[in-house]
Order: sequence, then structure tokens, then C-alpha cells
Amino acid sequence: MQMPGKVRIVEVGPRDGLQNEKTQISTETKVELIARLGAAGLKSIETGAFVSAKWVPQMADSAAVMQHMVRLEGVNYPVLTPNLQGFEAALAAGAQEISIFASASESFSRKNINCSIAESLERFRPVMAAANSAGIPVRGYLSCVLGCPYEGEIAPLQVANVTAALYQMGCYEVSLGDTIGTGTPGKTLKMLEAVIKLVPVDKLAGHFHDTYAQALVNIYASLQMGVAVYDASVSGLGGCPYATGASGNVATEEVVYLLHGLGLETGIDLDALVSTSRWISEQLGRTPKASLALSAQATRLT
Ligand code: HMG
Ligand code: MG
Repeated sequence: MQMPGKVRIVEVGPRDGLQNEKTQISTETKVELIARLGAAGLKSIETGAFVSAKWVPQMADSAAVMQHMVRLEGVNYPVLTPNLQGFEAALAAGAQEISIFASASESFSRKNINCSIAESLERFRPVMAAANSAGIPVRGYLSCVLGCPYEGEIAPLQVANVTAALYQMGCYEVSLGDTIGTGTPGKTLKMLEAVIKLVPVDKLAGHFHDTYAQALVNIYASLQMGVAVYDASVSGLGGCPYATGASGNVATEEVVYLLHGLGLETGIDLDALVSTSRWISEQLGRTPKASLALSAQATRLT
């Protein structure tokens, strides 16, 4: 398998990053974050989730965020929708792309969306049908592909089967999530080998969390397998409310630094991204997780 010539990044900070913050982030701050990410050159920015506010209070203002954000030409602004109710709310708010999310782990599926894997797939069918009629592309997410906080190891074949189910249902791409960041390059390669037998590699994305500082090496391993799309979160914001111990997503600026270092074009302005990372960290009253955002000279080295 060859390294891809071009890589696409899906920025998930405003959703996967902020959904786990304890203090409520204002709609205004979210809107500004989305604007700054767009200005930095991100072409796909996940802006929110139409889920139950009782389950994830931080995403309760997703419709307001969509109403106030400025949409840039050529930029996608996907949102998560767990069921038809979420889809209808997203559509009413003006969503032009949605994501459905399943899990490779039965226990995680129940904790995250309160149903089994099979039930979740049944729940997604009407969402897919409604999205098709509205001409809305649907992305799929699969959680716990390299480990589950409740079950431990997840078999690569299980990951492959649920990925295939999402793809066959009509997802244009399935993002494979190492939700708790327990993956290593060896595990990543074994998992991808199994998945690629059932789903074309150009329909897959990698979604790595950096709990054990393995996210970038897992991306490097996935690049060798030909995976050309990666989810990342500015400043490494993130976690998952239903995945105990899940720390942040891989930081977008670190992924961009890696890709540019490999000679892979992203169209992203690293300086602007690093400033955004510093800015959002200030807003959240925390030190940036990504080492690049801490370094005054980092972007001058690229
Ligand atoms: P449920 O309680 O089983 O739902 O939750 P229900 O159908 O029985 O309805 C119960 C109540 O929820 C009702 O309200 C519904 O109206 C309401 P009540 O009558 O009690 O007032 N409800 C909704 N409200 C708003 N939006 C909706 C919606 N649906 C029902 N769409 C449900 C099921 C899926 C709704 C719930 O479990 C939920 O919202 N879960 C979301 C969890 C979540 O967002 N997790 C984080 C994202 S996944 C993730 O982070 C992993 C990922 O990043 C990849 C990775 O890292 O690996 C993607
Ligand atoms: Mg995630």
C-alpha cells in the first residue's frame, strides 16, 4: 500500500473537543472558534451535535451555533445526529452534512447512545433515508475500534463488520475512532488490515485520541496503509463523556506539522492554527495540550 498523495483533515474540536468541557462554553466563543478554524484553512469543521441535552449539555446550543456562524464557501460544517429526532433538528438548523455514530463495542454503544449495536444500525436506517431524500451526505463514525473502556480489547473482525454495515448503509466515509487512545501502531495495522478487506481504504478515516501519546504514530501507521483522512481537534481538545479516561483527540496543529514534514499538502495555515489553539486555550483557562502551541518558534521550523 502507498502513502496517499493528499490528506484531508476533519476538524472536530468544536464538537468532540468542547462536548467534554465541564464549564459551559458560550455560543459566541464556539462561533468564533469555527470562524478562526475556517480562516486557518480547515475545509471540514464539525460544529455540534443534535443529541439529548440531558446526555451532553455542552452541545445544547448546536442550533444557535449554526444560526450565528458564518459559512465559508467550500467548507463543510457537519453535525452529529444519533436518530431521526436529531436529524430533523439538524435539518431545521440548516445542516448540510450529518454524521451518524455507532460503536464496535456493545457496552460502549449502550453507555453512549442507550442501545445495542444492532438497534443503533436500525435507528440509523430512517436517518439515512431522510438524509438521502434531502440530498445530505452522511458520514459514519465507529467508536472503540482499538479498545473499549468497559470491555477491553475489541476484535478487528468486529470492527470490520460494523464498519462494513455503516458503509453499506450509505455512509460516504467511515471514521474509525480510537475513542480511549489505547491503540498502538501494531494494533492499528491489524485493525486496518481487517477493515480494508471489507471496505475500500479511500472510504476510511482515522480518529485518534492521544491518551498514551500514540495518536501521531498511529496516524503514521495508517498513512502507510493508504488512509488519507484524519479527524483532529485544535489544541488536542476533547475526550468523550461516555469513555472514562479518554483524553484529548490528536491536536490538529500536530497532525498538520507531521503531514507538512512528510511533504503532504493540507492547505492549512499552521501559524493561524497555532494562534487559534492558543486563543481557545485562553478562553477555556487552560494551558494548550499541544506542544506546538507552547512553542514560540515551532511554526518557523516548518
Ligand atoms: P434515550 O434516552 O434512549 O432516547 O437517548 P429516547 O428516544 O428514549 O428519548 C428520551 C428523551 O430524549 C426524550 O425527551 C427525547 O425527546 C429526547 P423527554 O421526553 O424525556 O423530554 N431525545 C432527544 N433530544 C434531543 N436530540 C435528540 C434526541 N433523541 C431523543 N436527538 C440518545 C438516546 C441517542 C438521544 C442519547 O443517548 C444521546 O443523546 N446520546 C448522545 C451521546 C453523545 O453525544 N455522545 C458523544 C458523541 S460520540 C463520541 O464522542 C465518539 C466519537 O467522537 C468517535 C470517537 O471518539 O471514537 C464520535
Ligand atoms: Mg472522539
